[in-house]
Amino acid sequence: MLKQLNEVYPFLNFIPSHASGSYIYSEDGRKILDMYGGHAVTSLGYGNEQFSDFLSKQLKDLIFQSNAVNLPIREEASTKLISLAPDSVDKVFFVNSGAEANENALKIALKMSSDRKKVVSLKHAFHGRTAAAAAVTWGNEKWYGFPNKPMNVEFIERDSVEGLNKIDNDVAAVIIEPVQGIGGAYAFDQSYISALEQKCKDHKVLLIADEVQCGMARCGEVFCSNLYNIKPDMITLAKGLGGGIPVGAVLVSKEIASALGPGDLGSTFGGGPLASAAVSFVTSKIQDKSFLENISRVSALLMKGCLVPPITQVQGKGLLIGLVSDFAGEIKARLLDKNILVGSSSFKNTIRLLPPLTLSVEEVEIFIETLKEVCHEVS
Ligand SMILES: Cc1ncc(COP(=O)(O)O)c(C=O)c1O
Repeated sequence: MLKQLNEVYPFLNFIPSHASGSYIYSEDGRKILDMYGGHAVTSLGYGNEQFSDFLSKQLKDLIFQSNAVNLPIREEASTKLISLAPDSVDKVFFVNSGAEANENALKIALKMSSDRKKVVSLKHAFHGRTAAAAAVTWGNEKWYGFPNKPMNVEFIERDSVEGLNKIDNDVAAVIIEPVQGIGGAYAFDQSYISALEQKCKDHKVLLIADEVQCGMARCGEVFCSNLYNIKPDMITLAKGLGGGIPVGAVLVSKEIASALGPGDLGSTFGGGPLASAAVSFVTSKIQDKSFLENISRVSALLMKGCLVPPITQVQGKGLLIGLVSDFAGEIKARLLDKNILVGSSSFKNTIRLLPPLTLSVEEVEIFIETLKEVCHEVS
């Protein structure tokens, strides 16, 4: 089957032909409930007509212009993002992916604190596969691929207040996913996140919130930082930000923005018209009260309904959910046999759910019923 593509991905056992709402339809006639959302990307579900009409209009009007010109649609997208973000961030720099967003955030942090060469990250964090982003990703020694790392990195234990003592005057920045995605949909304790933020303040360390996976309403609030009531110096976004159109962003504080000048950052495609139109549409949609209410409603049903033996724990926030079980691999495979797609995580015993944020109560019921069947079969 594979002729020219590099074989770097283990493919699932179906080929999608089209998708609608929360369902993927395969070439061989399967109808698959997507509890994985294309790695947390399809925030508005599939086939949203208003969204495709909006994007089509943008395609017809102006498919592309680079950052050499000012674009009203780019301005509109950034204004909407900043209006919903914590008031600690003030300006947006658009890029194309999560890794690129983190790469730029780390570069900015080290430039802002040129006498400090260290970045603190969290065990089990994932921040991307480019040089700096990979350096702050847990377990990178297995696949890093570069001879040297661009800065010193110290990984601290999750939720350990003792570990916070590593945040001192030598540290330029701390990067954290407030809810870790690949690390098993792991939601940090509120008290830990607050203490980490305080440590950063005490030592004038920049706080970078990587909301690439947990942001854009995935955890029940447009910004996960608002859920935890923290005020990061930078926030990175991607995945659900464009609802399927590739786009990433770095949101920075006023102080950082004023230290950046022409030529300091750049990206050919970053914030192009189509990407900006997607951000503008998605941002308007996800801030809607009823949209957010749906997330908390279906999240509560999943959190309660998925705790079926041999699942021993259900963790996470909103629609970033981890199901912990020694039988995780078998449950995942059997769910797919029954036409339900779920994700894995860096923990072999943890399944990840990242469905479209438009998931309905009826779809949750179908999922839970099927999960119960599967759990009964494996235990
Ligand atoms: C929290 C987080 N940050 C960064 C990334 C990297 O994003 P991308 O794959 O768009 O480069 C990911 C991807 O899974 C992620 O989950």
